[in-house]
Amino acid sequence: MLTKSAAKAFFLGGTALCSAAFLLLTLDTLAAFPKRSNQDQMTEQVVRGHHIWNKNNCMGCHTLMGEGGYYAPELTKVLERRGGPWINSFLQDPESFYPGRRKMIKYDIFVDAEVGAEVAAGNRADIIAFLDWVGKIDLNGFPAEPDMKGSGMASAVDPTKLEAAPDYFKTVCIGCHSVGGQGGNVGPTLDGVSDRFDEAYLRTWISDPQSVKPGTSMPDLGVEGELLDELVHYLGTL
Ligand code: HEC
Ligand code: HEC
Repeated sequence: MLTKSAAKAFFLGGTALCSAAFLLLTLDTLAAFPKRSNQDQMTEQVVRGHHIWNKNNCMGCHTLMGEGGYYAPELTKVLERRGGPWINSFLQDPESFYPGRRKMIKYDIFVDAEVGAEVAAGNRADIIAFLDWVGKIDLNGFPAEPDMKGSGMASAVDPTKLEAAPDYFKTVCIGCHSVGGQGGNVGPTLDGVSDRFDEAYLRTWISDPQSVKPGTSMPDLGVEGELLDELVHYLGTL
């Protein structure tokens, strides 16, 4: 049996010890936040992107770190999954990327024709910077690998299989087209495409699909100049 004063000392000592441990662990956690959340990389652009995110209620349909609406895809790792160029094209015309499916809103703030090319490009860059920052937060492995099967769209492909392709092809075109069995199946496979069409046709098709086939669901990605040359050249090798 403890004496009264021993019990009191035991109680006070135990309480002090547990409080100290709790305090230390709390401080340890707080100290880890800046590193895990990459606070030093929270640039002004990231903050602007966050404002766009809030103001336009992206959260109403999408989740970040599991928080938000469950109507649309989880976006925490969307930059890793899709890449900046893909998202940049997607935001300008979301519908054309998912023909005939439930639709992501086309926001005026991302569309050149609505708010001017410079403002729209700035807004797109801001939201991409924000999503990039979110994607780099250390979340202990969350979210689990998305299951892209049945979505009709492929996630970013192992680049070694498409080595010769321009980066733009590997990030944007591959979302809808496959090469060597890798890629999306929204559009036809591009294996052997050079047997089916000549260079002039491919050039017009990529730069302005509607002019070749009005109503086609291949989006006008605004590809031109050197990039267009590179893509046409690459397709010619398939
Ligand atoms: C009304 C619901 C809704 C709102 C609001 C919304 N989205 Fe979406 N979003 C979707 C749907 C649905 C998809 C999946 C594509 C589809 O089915 O059309 C999508 C897809 C996306 C994708 C591609 C995800 C992937 O993995 O392919 C990105 C990026 C995206 N949205 C960004 C945004 C941003 C940024 C905002 C706010 C400015 C926003 N969304 C607001 C419904 C929404
Ligand atoms: C959002 C999906 C999507 C993206 C992104 C996309 N395409 Fe397409 N593409 C399609 C669809 C759908 C068709 C079939 C259109 C039709 O027949 O009306 C198509 C057709 C084609 C064709 C004709 C192939 C054939 O056999 O008929 C070529 C070539 C092509 N795309 C190249 C490209 C290139 C290069 C890129 C990247 C710059 C690209 N596409 C990006 C959806 C896409």
